[in-house]
Amino acid sequence: MKKFAILTSGGDSPGMNCAIRAFVRTVIHSGNLAYGVLKGYEGLIDNQFVELDASSVGNIMQRGGTILQSSRSKRFLEKEYREQAINNLKNLGIEGLVVIGGDGSFKGSEKLVSEFSFPVIGIPGTIDNDINGTEYTIGHDTAVETAIQAVDKIRDTAFSHDRVFLIEVMGRNSASIALKTALCSGAENVILPNEEVPYKDLVESINRGVSRGKKGSIFIVAEGGVEGRSYEIQTKLLEHNLQSRVCILGHIQRGGSPSPKDRLIASKMGHLAANALLQNNNSGMIALNKNQLELITFGLTTLKNNDDDALHQLIKTLSI
Ligand code: F6P
Repeated sequence: MKKFAILTSGGDSPGMNCAIRAFVRTVIHSGNLAYGVLKGYEGLIDNQFVELDASSVGNIMQRGGTILQSSRSKRFLEKEYREQAINNLKNLGIEGLVVIGGDGSFKGSEKLVSEFSFPVIGIPGTIDNDINGTEYTIGHDTAVETAIQAVDKIRDTAFSHDRVFLIEVMGRNSASIALKTALCSGAENVILPNEEVPYKDLVESINRGVSRGKKGSIFIVAEGGVEGRSYEIQTKLLEHNLQSRVCILGHIQRGGSPSPKDRLIASKMGHLAANALLQNNNSGMIALNKNQLELITFGLTTLKNNDDDALHQLIKTLSI
């Protein structure tokens, strides 16, 4: 019997458990053994393996977060600790590893492949949907749904009080959550990550709304890696005599029960990742492109796989 392991790394995202379940059940179905590594690369360095049987992944599909827990490992950036991790894998007789995570996590995976020729399959899992080479990352759909539901609720009170709200969503350097939330909640405008805030546009759109009798305005602010950016924007708007309220959605967007889309894609990706190891000892990242799952090389950074510009234009057109 062969042994294979799985870990989750970086920020958790809804649907990771579905991928873990699919991986474990596929490995066991093929007559082999599945292991989980606790707390991401930190657990790999510290030898924290647990054998996972079929029932250990029962009743987890609907749960957000990751049953294996996660970490952002600084130690794994150093070769000394990667060597320790590889020794742990080899001592236990593990023949391949699946890493569910984002870009940063896959840099670590690439190192395991290039430095030690160890087979690693990456599954894209982050709410940000910002991994080059794949159109989709597990958890994004659920996070957008959470954000939209929150904005809908805030819109009720914005209307009642004729208020302007700045609602900040997650997405470090990615505009995906912000753009989809803005479009689907009918926001008046969206401020992109790392973008110079277009104050003139903001003021104009608030005033335009007021003059056509609009009750309340919603602006979606992408955090851009600095949580709390909205407070600075609020202060500047005050200089134009415009009062606003700030609501930072924060980590609420990372939790919750995964949507059907996330459950479906995560299950397929987990299954494919297991098969890629079982059948060919392959390495690379599972990607979803044009509705097809495929195994691509790690670090494929040439693809631009989002429709951010088109979405931004649509939001502007519809929010006149
Ligand atoms: O996992 C992605 C993400 O949620 C980003 O959207 C956000 O900027 C960041 O992680 C927050 O990270 P942490 O949970 O470590 O504060």
